[in-house]
Amino acid sequence: MTNAPSSATARERDEQVASGSAYRAVIERLSKASVDKHWEPYRDIPWDDPEFLVDPEDPRWELPEVDRLGGHPWYRGRSPEERARIGLWRVATAMKIGLQFENLLKRGLLNYAYRLPNGSPEFRYVYHETIEEGHHGMMFQEFVNRTGMPIRGMPGPLSVIAQVAPWIPLISTELFFIFVLGGEDPIDHVQRRVLKDGRAHHPLEETIMRIHIAEEARHISFARHYLRNRVPRMPAHRRLLLGLVSPVILGVMARIMLAPPGAMIRRFRIPASVVAEVYLRDPGARQDIRDSIGKTRELCAEIGLINAVTRRVWQVMGIWEAPKGGGRPAPR
Ligand SMILES: [Fe+2]
Ligand SMILES: [Fe+2]
Repeated sequence: MTNAPSSATARERDEQVASGSAYRAVIERLSKASVDKHWEPYRDIPWDDPEFLVDPEDPRWELPEVDRLGGHPWYRGRSPEERARIGLWRVATAMKIGLQFENLLKRGLLNYAYRLPNGSPEFRYVYHETIEEGHHGMMFQEFVNRTGMPIRGMPGPLSVIAQVAPWIPLISTELFFIFVLGGEDPIDHVQRRVLKDGRAHHPLEETIMRIHIAEEARHISFARHYLRNRVPRMPAHRRLLLGLVSPVILGVMARIMLAPPGAMIRRFRIPASVVAEVYLRDPGARQDIRDSIGKTRELCAEIGLINAVTRRVWQVMGIWEAPKGGGRPAPR
């Protein structure tokens, strides 16, 4: 029989042990799920099936009218073949940027795992995640290759700056998992929205997105549980610093993930006025950026990273939105 805690301190300690073992149980469950349910791109995707071949002029690549570029008179005025090519270019660029982000992420995860002590449940999970991300990288690159288009990922200078990301875990593992969510949440947000838009998608695009969404759900869950477990126990000054840096990282990452590809703009000679109208001046574009990191913003509020001072940074980065319903957001 367990004795009742004799003091507030003892009760606090008991609660910490309980939440510590609940955290451990989540990590072990995620590791088991990675064994039970995972995909391999060269085993589970029928790349050479005639239905899965990529034809850049397939009308299923066309952007829908509800899309801001897809609904623009300039886009509607292109030939059907060009509309399809623009749509495919955009999907392939998102995959290329996704695989570059995941490349940085894998290196960061390995830097994190390198220093983990024996018996750490995170070690096994992080290796599962790294392996899954390895599969995603191959899957995305194979798709890009099959478009036959000269797809480029992140703009060059940004790609150079991004090389610091794998080293973030050496400074702060908490900041690293904010970076992880900063990339994974917008990709997941966009992919879920595409699958729910009720249109007929190319089976290859649909298969890749379904595999990715299923495995990313575990990665996002791990990052969120890690932060929920660690951040509330950080010393106040480090938590404040994390609270100040996080919105900067999240604001930049969301824009990298959702920005229009420069190479696409040049290739299809999309007029600057159309780009400005669709991506810069349209309030819907700003709302998209805010929505794409909505879950991470709620998590940051829940774990005490948002106060009157740090909220200003969220506002300056253009990613602030008051929690729905006013009060503290419900834990997920
Ligand atoms: Fe991934
Ligand atoms: Fe992931």
